[in-house]
Amino acid sequence: MGLRDRIKERLKGALGFPPPAVAAPAAPPPPAAEPDFTPLGPSSLLAEGAARSWPLPGSPDRVVAVFRRNGELFAMDNACAHEDGPIGEGTVRGNTVRCPYHDWEYDFTSGVCLTDPERRQACWKVKELQGQIWLGPLLRQGTTIRGGEHNDGLEVIQQ
Ligand code: FES
Repeated sequence: MGLRDRIKERLKGALGFPPPAVAAPAAPPPPAAEPDFTPLGPSSLLAEGAARSWPLPGSPDRVVAVFRRNGELFAMDNACAHEDGPIGEGTVRGNTVRCPYHDWEYDFTSGVCLTDPERRQACWKVKELQGQIWLGPLLRQGTTIRGGEHNDGLEVIQQ
């Protein structure tokens, strides 16, 4: 090492070169594992007093409807017990939702069909955490019975 290099080394040391490494900001912790719960989607997609449906995790042929009422979430089978209409696209009023196809009505807090109380929808645990809606274990099985009177005042046209 020549004189020039020695001078450079001394200057680097005196000037604090190379500068001390700046620690990178810590990455946010990964979402906590939620045993028995599966994320459905961002909770921002479900407004207060509204409903939204998502594919049922692990069952591509089924859909779950999630409702938000007074800050609480409720999840039930989206397939109407009348003729499989999309309940999650129905009209929400208070604790009830009216199927958009023929107006069968449900209490989404219990899954009870108000039009035919013998029928009840499957319901799941559901919660909101870290900006996501998480679907939990099945609370109760729902009916598999289908058919019945229309409730919309329209006549069925027989062909
Ligand atoms: S399919 Fe829902 S009321 Fe007929």
